[in-house]
Amino acid sequence: MMFKAPKLFILLSSFWVLSCSGPQFKYRTVPMAPGESFEDHVFEGQDYVVTAQGDYSTKAGVKMYELGGNAIDAAAAVSFCISVERPQSTGIGGGGFLVFKSPEMEKPVTFDFREKAPLLADSKMYLDKEGKEIKGKSLNGIFAGGVPGLVAGIVEIHKEYGSLPLATVMQPAIDLAEKGFKVYPELAFALRVREETLRKFPASVKIFFDKNKHILKEGDLLVQSDLAKTLKSIAKKGRDGFYKGWVADAIVAEERRRGGLIRYNDLSRYNMIKRKPVEGKYKDYEIYSMGPPSSGGIHVIQILNILEPLNLGHYGIQDAKTIHYTASAMQQAFADRARYLGDMDFVKVPLRELTSKEYAKKIREKIPHHRALKKDEVLPGQFDGYESTETTHFSIMDKLGNMVSSTQTINGFMGSGLVIPGTGILLNNEMDDFATKVGAKNLFGAVGGENNLVESEKRPLSSMSPTLVLKKGKPVMAVGTPSGTRILTCVAQTILNYIEHNEPLLNAVSAVRFHQQWYPDELRVGTLGLKKEEEDELRDMGYKINHKNLGCRIQAIAMEKGQFIGVSDPRGLGLAAGK
Ligand code: GLY
Repeated sequence: MMFKAPKLFILLSSFWVLSCSGPQFKYRTVPMAPGESFEDHVFEGQDYVVTAQGDYSTKAGVKMYELGGNAIDAAAAVSFCISVERPQSTGIGGGGFLVFKSPEMEKPVTFDFREKAPLLADSKMYLDKEGKEIKGKSLNGIFAGGVPGLVAGIVEIHKEYGSLPLATVMQPAIDLAEKGFKVYPELAFALRVREETLRKFPASVKIFFDKNKHILKEGDLLVQSDLAKTLKSIAKKGRDGFYKGWVADAIVAEERRRGGLIRYNDLSRYNMIKRKPVEGKYKDYEIYSMGPPSSGGIHVIQILNILEPLNLGHYGIQDAKTIHYTASAMQQAFADRARYLGDMDFVKVPLRELTSKEYAKKIREKIPHHRALKKDEVLPGQFDGYESTETTHFSIMDKLGNMVSSTQTINGFMGSGLVIPGTGILLNNEMDDFATKVGAKNLFGAVGGENNLVESEKRPLSSMSPTLVLKKGKPVMAVGTPSGTRILTCVAQTILNYIEHNEPLLNAVSAVRFHQQWYPDELRVGTLGLKKEEEDELRDMGYKINHKNLGCRIQAIAMEKGQFIGVSDPRGLGLAAGK
């Protein structure tokens, strides 16, 4: 059953009035979109809470609990439903990561269903004869797509831990694809941005354009009948309904027709990998997050380690000192990311060193107290022996002690733009998360290093950071967000706002955020900006401030005073609900 939380709403409304009213207040938060209220973005519950970036998807998760299912039934239902509801962000043509803790587990486990480079791929595939990058090849069309992993991942996780039949958890997604839904502003925007690329592919035009060949606009009905057929095939046959049979035939036929690289072998060999989480400790809290091929977990923990002894809670979340130290920690994380991070099944990543307290201490000691570090002063650590804003996230927690945090993606808006004819599958453009060559930047401006060059069957480096926070083994928080390289800095800030600055979860999520990723040498601050005196102080320290939307949409759940609080970032579409 859904219920609204009037008490909380009144409290939050007053919080917003306060935070709008000027310099006497503690810090800046985001405004709500016109016509929206905080009410749908926050939920208080006793039994379970689901937060996701779409109403249908959150409700699909809630429905599984109502049918007697468990957290993984809910996670599978959200995953398939959000694939239909947010074709600009994720889909069965993409992949992702999921972190799960059940009460029986001593520690969380993580699942890697990231896309893989095709067997025929190699490190020069995006370069011309002179070794120059071929513009757009890793972003648009057939060569942009890695071998999709989402179906293998969700079906296998569900098989091991779910309790309801697969067909039941997939039904909300099938219904939504068949009946359709009205195009909402965020989707209309993404369609406009990717119109030119989508128009090149007749199967994409069939779905995302009207009968007059105009791109769908806000309020138009988006029906995805071919996708519904593919989902039914998966509901009936499990992973074989995607990686074998008519769906596999359609994928391979389109790849061959357009000179692409994915073959039957790639599909049959695709494997979801259960991995240990990366672990850290922040004061009394245990942090568990996604390890390589994501850089996210390592750098969330690294940033927290650097900041831990500084007790930034004394200053407040938007004090210039807090921002200076946090931005410097972020800057170092991105220098290390460029140098070291890649798929650990292929390259050596100094995971233990990067997440160690000793390394954090060395970095902390190098941060000057009163000035920003220039990018050339920040070098990757030395160890012995060794952008679009898309993607989506959801979190689930329940009273049995289950915690789920999952980030899923097709990479940029509408992925590669190419729909596989007859299947409704929008192919990802995750290959752009590889370094097309050493030093090249991806869609999000992240610098690529040798460890992240394309190799046959390798997984591209990610920033996705689905994270669980516990205290003495007890659930505290499930958190994550979309938005490329900003993912890991937004997750780190939300954790800090909640556990270091002791802010209630809604405030922790709503506060204006900032991001520093080494290159470019700037402090990116959410469009609303910080208080003038804090920004002046940061400029005096040498920061170049760029006011620009970070794109993060945190989906978080926490235990507060014995009950669950779910917050779906008020910056965008989303719903927190449960019981
Ligand atoms: N495609 C965005 C990421 O994996 O970080």
